[in-house]
Amino acid sequence: MKVALEGFHCVKHALRFAPECVSDVVVRDPAAVRALAERLAPDVVDLLLSRAVVGEVAHHTGVSAVGAVPSPDRSVLSARTSPLVLLDAPRSPGNAGAVIRVAAAAGACGVAFTGTLDPWHPTVLRGSAGLHYALPVLRVGPSDVTGPLVVLDADGDPSASLPGDAVLVVGSERSGVGASLRERADLVMALPMRDGVSSLNLATAVAAALYRAR
Ligand SMILES: C[S@@+](CC[C@H](N)C(=O)[O-])C[C@H]1O[C@@H](n2cnc3c(N)ncnc32)[C@H](O)[C@@H]1O
Repeated sequence: MKVALEGFHCVKHALRFAPECVSDVVVRDPAAVRALAERLAPDVVDLLLSRAVVGEVAHHTGVSAVGAVPSPDRSVLSARTSPLVLLDAPRSPGNAGAVIRVAAAAGACGVAFTGTLDPWHPTVLRGSAGLHYALPVLRVGPSDVTGPLVVLDADGDPSASLPGDAVLVVGSERSGVGASLRERADLVMALPMRDGVSSLNLATAVAAALYRAR
C-alpha cells in the first residue's frame, strides 16, 4: 500500500527513518527547499534533493512524496524494552497522529490500534508529521498484546508508575478504555487533574505518562 507524504516535515521524517519507503519526491522550488532543509534538517538535504524532481506541489512547504507502508515489527506486542502505546478504538485521526508523534519522541517501542480507524489514514499521517516511519504502527485485537497492561484512566491510581515493558492502554475520546482491556489491567494509572477538569486529550495523557516514566 502507498500513502501520500505531504509537506517537508512528513517527507523529512520518512527519509530519515525509512528512506527505502520513499519514492516520487517532488519539490516546487529546489533552491527554496534546499534553504529550508539546510536550516531545519541538514542531515537529509542531499538525500531529499538527489531524489527530487521539480513539479507542482499543493503543500505550502513545496515538498511531497509517496510512501510505502512498511510491514510493522509485531515482536513489540510481546517483547519490549520501552512501553508500547495501545490506542483502544480511537475516533479522531488528528489525536491518533499526535499520539504517534509523541510516542516516537518519548521513545515508546510502537503504537498499536484496536478498532476501525486506519492508522495510515492521511489525517493520522499528517498529525504524526511522518513519524509513522520511526516506530512500528500496528492494528491489533485486544488479545494480541501480552505483558504488564497499564490502563490510563482519570479514576485510577495517581501513584501508579509505568513499567519499562508495559502496554500503556489509552481510551477513546468518547468512552474511555473498553471492558475487554480494562478487565485485564495490571494497573490503572491516573494523571491527577485540578477539580472540575474531567479529562485530558488522549495525546496529552500519553505525553504525560511517557515523559513521567522517563
Ligand atoms: C478524552 S479521554 C476519555 C474520556 C472519556 N469520556 C472517559 O469516559 O474516559 C481519553 C483517554 O485519555 C486518557 N486520560 C485522559 N485524562 C486522563 C487522566 N487524567 N488520567 C489518566 N488517563 C487519562 C484515558 O485513557 C482516557 O480514556
